[in-house]
Amino acid sequence: MGKNIAIYPGSFDPCTNGHLDVISRSSKLFDKLYVAVLVNRNKVPTFTIEERVELLKRVTSDIPNIEIISFNSLLVNIATEVGASVIIKGLRAVSDFEYEFQMALANSRLVPGIETLFLPTSNENLFLSSSLVKEVASNGGDISSLVPPEIREDIVRKFLGE
Ligand code: PNS
Repeated sequence: MGKNIAIYPGSFDPCTNGHLDVISRSSKLFDKLYVAVLVNRNKVPTFTIEERVELLKRVTSDIPNIEIISFNSLLVNIATEVGASVIIKGLRAVSDFEYEFQMALANSRLVPGIETLFLPTSNENLFLSSSLVKEVASNGGDISSLVPPEIREDIVRKFLGE
């Protein structure tokens, strides 16, 4: 297990400024950061796996030690496969904590030694989530302060067909 390799998993449906903040901060803490996009969930995602990966690649193109990958299994399996010993999770409110704490314990039970590192989200992104971005975009609201500028048009187009 590589000590300096971390993995940041999520649905990224779509990537927000909150995700990008966690990505750019954690990329400075590790030699290599894998951003792992979950392919399938119980609900059908708004953006396809190819779209979610492509949007993430575009907004992280200036970060050298990063790789965007997709996975369709347990997080610990892909973490082991890429040699990551640390899982990064962003925490917004206390309401995130209970679920994330349970996941962290489950993941370390599945692969003893794997650590979860919680990064507190930046102040300005406390309220931000992919669902909120979709809610605003699908109702024609302005998402320019919520997502990176390079992908704003893609998200607007998805909902309004512009
Ligand atoms: O962005 P999200 O939807 O909050 O991310 C959730 C994600 C992808 C981190 C979580 O659902 C996950 O790790 N799924 C993979 C399956 C898994 O390993 N589950 C936890 C152990 S039982």
